[in-house]
Amino acid sequence: MTATRGRLRSADWFDAEPKTSFIHRSWMRIEGVPDHAFDGRPVIGICNTWSELTPCNAHFRDLAEMVKRGVLEAGGVPLEFPVMSLGEAIMRPTTMLFRNLVSMDVEESIRANPLDGVVLLAGCDKTTPSTLMGAVSCDLPTLVVSGGPMLNGKFRGRDIGSGTDVWRFSEELRAGRMTEHEFAEAEACMSRSAGHCMTMGTASTMACMVEALGLTLPGGAAIPAADSRRKSLAHLAGNRIVELVREDLRPSRILGRPAFENAIRVNAAIGGSTNFVVHLLALAGRAGVELSLDDFDRLGSRLPLLVDLMPSGRFLMEDFYYAGGLPVVIRELEHLLHMDALTVTGRSLDANTAGAPCHDREVIRPFGEPVQEEAGLAVLRGNLAEDGAIIKPSAATPELLQHRGRAVVFEDIEELQARIDDPDLDVDESCVLVLKGAGPRGYPGMAEVGNLPMPKKLAEAGVRDMVRISDGRMSGTAYGTVVLHTSPESAVGGTLALVQNGDEIELDVRGRGLHLHVADEELNRRRAAWTPPPPHDSRGYVRLYVEHVQQAHLGVDFDFLRGASGAVVRREAH
Ligand code: FES
Repeated sequence: MTATRGRLRSADWFDAEPKTSFIHRSWMRIEGVPDHAFDGRPVIGICNTWSELTPCNAHFRDLAEMVKRGVLEAGGVPLEFPVMSLGEAIMRPTTMLFRNLVSMDVEESIRANPLDGVVLLAGCDKTTPSTLMGAVSCDLPTLVVSGGPMLNGKFRGRDIGSGTDVWRFSEELRAGRMTEHEFAEAEACMSRSAGHCMTMGTASTMACMVEALGLTLPGGAAIPAADSRRKSLAHLAGNRIVELVREDLRPSRILGRPAFENAIRVNAAIGGSTNFVVHLLALAGRAGVELSLDDFDRLGSRLPLLVDLMPSGRFLMEDFYYAGGLPVVIRELEHLLHMDALTVTGRSLDANTAGAPCHDREVIRPFGEPVQEEAGLAVLRGNLAEDGAIIKPSAATPELLQHRGRAVVFEDIEELQARIDDPDLDVDESCVLVLKGAGPRGYPGMAEVGNLPMPKKLAEAGVRDMVRISDGRMSGTAYGTVVLHTSPESAVGGTLALVQNGDEIELDVRGRGLHLHVADEELNRRRAAWTPPPPHDSRGYVRLYVEHVQQAHLGVDFDFLRGASGAVVRREAH
């Protein structure tokens, strides 16, 4: 271990005073760990979000075995451990309610155990930010292996995308343009291999975010889960994490402000998910990097969209991988990125992506010939969003980006579900649909309900988009002229709580405005009469969540989790 800087952290367990070491080593031998495992080799935790309740991560046992091979080959000791997993398509009321809980699970699991470095196996949406937030809070050498996207969906001779085509098909079904038989057939055609959603939804966005931040091996984001090169990547990650420990290369040396700025710019160019905002803000909070909502607009909103992937475009992640993947996008943006940023390879982003070839210019465009001239996320402010709201213009209807209309208000998700199909609903396509109670505290958990469905009578008439405003989130696979993350949320008395049916609302994306045209005196009167909604739960984790969760513009992390605690534990158990 002469290459290692100083004593390994795991030696505090396995090479301590006799009684302590006896206990730690003896019980590890239950698993057949031989003598030489305690001779000063790096102990590598493999943090596994495998679960049969998280179908997108159901292949992670195989991936973990590949990481182990790599760790052993490099002279380390791999120890796999489970953490809570979050199945986006399965859990209620929303996985976002549990992102911070998983981050605590990961953080405490790493800190409490004799680990020198950790590989995070993450795929389905929240499994990436949650594990990363936890690991960054400990700051041991860390490397992420994402699970990879599913193969392209195939339905009646054409490609269909996770989520994106679910929203499309369900609207077609409601409007009577698709039969129930066709709808059921599409269900089996969409998810046909291991992996996460293969649109540029939140899972793909998170995988790209991790690569742009420099926390995974180059090219790792886009490899399909079913492609054997995904397994090779996991093996190589096992090799590399052992070296990372020997080099003492920790996230704190990688995650500086330049890395976050790179991630924002890359996210704009790939047409990434709106969920990127809350996750990157939360990660920055853990890493101690100053980052604000306005940084997303300032750095990313004028950038061109270079990747033609659903939901903003035509193709899917499998196509993106065959075209060259994220390294090609990074090269196209090189004049705007901090190419000298350090990564887990021990080299710069520049060195990692040098000479990356593009094999399909339909899928990944040159900087000067983009899919759209301006992509990214616009941050809106006004009396309806004093602390900000966001919209993804690339996924919106251009004609609706400047719009003024009459509010049709739903006080909560139950009222929306009860009234949206009512033929007597007083609504036309120029109206602005408003949903309250979908924010971090209000739902609770800030659910992905912001892309409200079209009122049925308008859907049947062929209306496919309207301006919609909420304090919730939207699936990264969804689309539409949808204003999200309105802050402060309605449940804490944000102006959104005061909107009434018939009020005029103005969306001005060009001017970055979101305004409720109601006189201040009237708003003050409504505010004085407003009472907060009753709490959803009075005990357990949800109580902790509601009492400590921060608003969307701060990343929806718990107030007491900002910052990092490191990995030192001073006291023994015996
Ligand atoms: Fe798991 Fe979409 S449901 S990534």
